Amino acid sequence: MLVISLPLSLVVAAITDPPLALPGCQEKCGNLIIPYPFGVGKGCFKGHDNSYHSYQITCAVGNSSSSNSNSSSKAYVGTGDIEILEMSLDPPEIIVSSYYAFQCFNSSGAETLMQTYWMTMGGTPFTFSATRNKFITIGCDTMANIGEYVDNDFMSGCMSLCGDMKSVRNGSCSGIGCCQTSIPYNLKRFDVAIGSLYNHTRIWQSNPCSFAVLADQNWFTFKLSDLSVDNFNKSTIPVVMDWAIGNQTCETAVRHKKSYACGPNSYCSNSTNGPGYGCFCTHGFQGNPYLPRGCQDIDECEKGYNNSCSPKAICTNLYGSYNCSCPQGYYGDGWINGSRCTRDQRSLPLISIILDSLPLVYDASFSLYLNSTYETFILKLVEMTPNPSPTINGLLESLSHYQISLGRKNTNGEISVFITEMYFHEVAQSDEDKRDVVKAEEGEENLKEASLTIENQFHMAER
Ligand SMILES: *[C@@H]1O[C@H](CO)[C@@H](O)[C@H](O)[C@H]1NC(C)=O
Ligand SMILES: *[C@@H]1O[C@H](CO)[C@@H](O)[C@H](O)[C@H]1NC(C)=O
Ligand SMILES: *[C@@H]1O[C@H](CO)[C@@H](O)[C@H](O)[C@H]1NC(C)=O
Ligand SMILES: *[C@@H]1O[C@H](CO)[C@@H](O)[C@H](O)[C@H]1NC(C)=O
Ligand SMILES: *[C@@H]1O[C@H](CO)[C@@H](O)[C@H](O)[C@H]1NC(C)=O
Ligand SMILES: *[C@@H]1O[C@H](CO)[C@@H](O)[C@H](O)[C@H]1NC(C)=O
Ligand SMILES: *[C@@H]1O[C@H](CO)[C@@H](O)[C@H](O)[C@H]1NC(C)=O
Ligand SMILES: *[C@@H]1O[C@H](CO)[C@@H](O)[C@H](O)[C@H]1NC(C)=O
Ligand SMILES: *[C@@H]1O[C@H](CO)[C@@H](O)[C@H](O)[C@H]1NC(C)=O
Ligand SMILES: *[C@@H]1O[C@H](CO)[C@@H](O)[C@H](O)[C@H]1NC(C)=O
Ligand SMILES: *[C@@H]1O[C@H](CO)[C@@H](O)[C@H](O)[C@H]1NC(C)=O
Ligand SMILES: *[C@@H]1O[C@H](CO)[C@@H](O)[C@H](O)[C@H]1NC(C)=O
Repeated sequence: MLVISLPLSLVVAAITDPPLALPGCQEKCGNLIIPYPFGVGKGCFKGHDNSYHSYQITCAVGNSSSSNSNSSSKAYVGTGDIEILEMSLDPPEIIVSSYYAFQCFNSSGAETLMQTYWMTMGGTPFTFSATRNKFITIGCDTMANIGEYVDNDFMSGCMSLCGDMKSVRNGSCSGIGCCQTSIPYNLKRFDVAIGSLYNHTRIWQSNPCSFAVLADQNWFTFKLSDLSVDNFNKSTIPVVMDWAIGNQTCETAVRHKKSYACGPNSYCSNSTNGPGYGCFCTHGFQGNPYLPRGCQDIDECEKGYNNSCSPKAICTNLYGSYNCSCPQGYYGDGWINGSRCTRDQRSLPLISIILDSLPLVYDASFSLYLNSTYETFILKLVEMTPNPSPTINGLLESLSHYQISLGRKNTNGEISVFITEMYFHEVAQSDEDKRDVVKAEEGEENLKEASLTIENQFHMAER
């Protein structure tokens, strides 16, 4: 027998996230979480120092003048100077801070400022994302190109010329004043060059500079002011890179047990951008698939997880999955996409209410009538004890708070018990639930005389 003290307090279990770094290794650099295969320090990352496809991260300790010194620490790819802004295992991506190219002129067409840039990820697990990045040029007398001459030997670019600013649309990088183009797959390095046809002399007043950048397309929104002001200056430019394990396909990699990176309860998937593969927890598991005990069972029954159990159903967590079933007194399969749970009128659940410190003593059995707008319950007091703990076995749903008013014996020698208010411990989710609130239905006058509020003085028991 389960006895629950009222009022019920819902205890939400704390969610303990499985670790993402190797045991004993630094999991955070500043606010950035560094998941294995990446890691800081010897033995904490996959691969060896300075090796091909090393997953080494350098964490530069932040400025000690700040009180929370570690939150200002910054992470860098390898041992270099490319700062990491975000890291993710699924999708296997990192976002790093990048640069931009620009060229500015004075009103007579002499170049006053010029910067081009290049990035190279050769020998690293990183490849510039062809789906998330765009090569963007800004200007009304602008030609810029992005190229790579080692592995691919390609050049691509964008040109933008415009006579007046009236045709430039704020917010839309669509060819006038701003142009964007895609980059190829499997790109590990690039150079950006920038130039101009008329040195901006024809539109200098409104547009003295050209800009060119490879950046996360979600980050960039073209603004009219980009033509007249250097909006890139001082801002962090994010560029997205995909990463992969090794340079083999899943089929080849799995045959080399020693180097195969995917742990238990995970699966392998070829990289979508260049050679190599990635590991992902199988359905029903979460965590870091690159760790030996990384992918851990998801408790789909935990509060806040959107499982497919219907309301009222019992959720049972299983290893790698879960099951829904209906509680006693209900029929159906318990699934939201199935037959759900419907109350079975023939076998309603038995819930006992043990009344504590009840100040009245009864000597006869009585019935309790509950009525609601959609169902009628008839509760019978089956156990009578001439002491302050009578038990009512009833057909009540799990209650968390209610008020019982006791009436007098009626002419038949029955005592009516009026439940004047009740609330379900699951917060009413639908109008249907609210309708379960039962109103006193008979003996209103008697009720007034003998009514007694015994809120919080009883226990509820289930058997
Ligand atoms: C720490 O911050 C101060 C002020 O921002 C700066 O002058 C100094 O160079 C910084 N030191 C380091 C090690 O970054
Ligand atoms: C900063 O990080 C180091 C490890 O890199 C750790 O030992 C130290 O406790 C951290 N300090 C704070 C204030 O978090
Ligand atoms: C235009 O700029 C280029 C440098 O980008 C310079 O070599 C050339 O002389 C300039 N032309 C004029 C007319 O100033
Ligand atoms: C532009 O720069 C050139 C070279 O520095 C200079 O000769 C010329 O006077 C400048 N023009 C203006 C309008 O400042
Ligand atoms: C262009 O759009 C940005 C927001 O995207 C807005 O802040 C800015 O004021 C707009 N500029 C003009 C000239 O409409
Ligand atoms: C960016 O800002 C720095 C310092 O504020 C300035 O020296 C530089 O000229 C700016 N760059 C451009 C392209 O305006
Ligand atoms: C694949 O990686 C191995 C080291 O992990 C390296 O020796 C080999 O050259 C790479 N092959 C290609 C085609 O890049
Ligand atoms: C990986 O790529 C190879 C070669 O393209 C292909 O044969 C294989 O089916 C792919 N494996 C997976 C798991 O996608
Ligand atoms: C569950 O669904 C709600 C509403 O659609 C959403 O806000 C919440 O993030 C979801 N939770 C999970 C764990 O998916
Ligand atoms: C799921 O629950 C139903 C109903 O209780 C039961 O018949 C079924 O065997 C359960 N399935 C699993 C996989 O436990
Ligand atoms: C309902 O969905 C669950 C999981 O989404 C699935 O396992 C089950 O087979 C589905 N049932 C029906 C009857 O479609
Ligand atoms: C129960 O409630 C319904 C609807 O409000 C009503 O029609 C019915 O008469 C009630 N039954 C009793 C026994 O009071």
